[in-house]
Amino acid sequence: MSRTVYVNGLYLPEEEAKVSVFDRGFLMADGVYEVTSVLGGKLIDFAGHARRLARSLAELEMKNPLTEDELLAIHRELVARNDLVDGMIYLQITRGATDRDFLFPENAEPTVVLFTQSKPGLADNPTAKVGIKVISIPDIRWGRRDIKTVQLLYPSMGKMMARKAGADDAWMVEDGEVTEGTSNNAYIVKGGKIITRHLGNEILHGITRSAVLRFAREAQMEVEERPFTVDEAKAADEAFITSASAFVMPVVQIDGVSLGAGTPGPVALRLREIYLDEMRKAAV
Ligand code: PDD
Repeated sequence: MSRTVYVNGLYLPEEEAKVSVFDRGFLMADGVYEVTSVLGGKLIDFAGHARRLARSLAELEMKNPLTEDELLAIHRELVARNDLVDGMIYLQITRGATDRDFLFPENAEPTVVLFTQSKPGLADNPTAKVGIKVISIPDIRWGRRDIKTVQLLYPSMGKMMARKAGADDAWMVEDGEVTEGTSNNAYIVKGGKIITRHLGNEILHGITRSAVLRFAREAQMEVEERPFTVDEAKAADEAFITSASAFVMPVVQIDGVSLGAGTPGPVALRLREIYLDEMRKAAV
């Protein structure tokens, strides 16, 4: 069945939705994006995603064409028009279409695209019961990973490297330390303490990360925000990742080394439960 997608103010059947070949998102990856989960027809942490979107745009000196209320209305309209129960809403804003030039155009109108992806039973993903395997790969991305740009070629290559190695995903490593997963933030647990890289330009400031660390602290769990090495990760009791679409997902193997019992750890499973419970309650 054809989806209804949003393009620059219009709701269109996906076959009719088009953007220009001169769009800077297409030519230069000059665009930013957000992925917001939908559970039971409601948006998970919409305010967090709207906030980060505004920050990404500001960091790139790009116009923010929509207010938070307008953005929320579009998200809700797409949920309604597509009868979306569980899944994601993908949003992309680019600097717009002008003749090709490295300099930012002065008068281009931003291109705004949103579409839905239906994932029935997203929160009951059976993978969460067995966990995922990751490999480590060098982090060769640019230096502003805190901006959620659409430059996703290396993360995409990383996932292919993982697949070829018989794993599910890759953790990227810079100067001997894990930065993050290809499309998620990375955590280890040692002696009950949750360790995850501190915020900075080296990683995306995950919206899920922020909520999960808040819930962990509220549950009296100890959290340390600092870099960790792959060797430290291999010797950890457990590990997990977070993202808007995976929520909290246990990691059971790193570079072929099983963690703990080789099954999802109690901290990851507890945090997944708390996160889903709390975020469903606060969904809009
Ligand atoms: N990815 N780090 C990277 C590199 C990411 O691409 C993502 C999100 C995250 C987690 O951020 P959040 O918790 O806000 O989703 C961390 C999205 C889901 C994607 O590209 O599909």
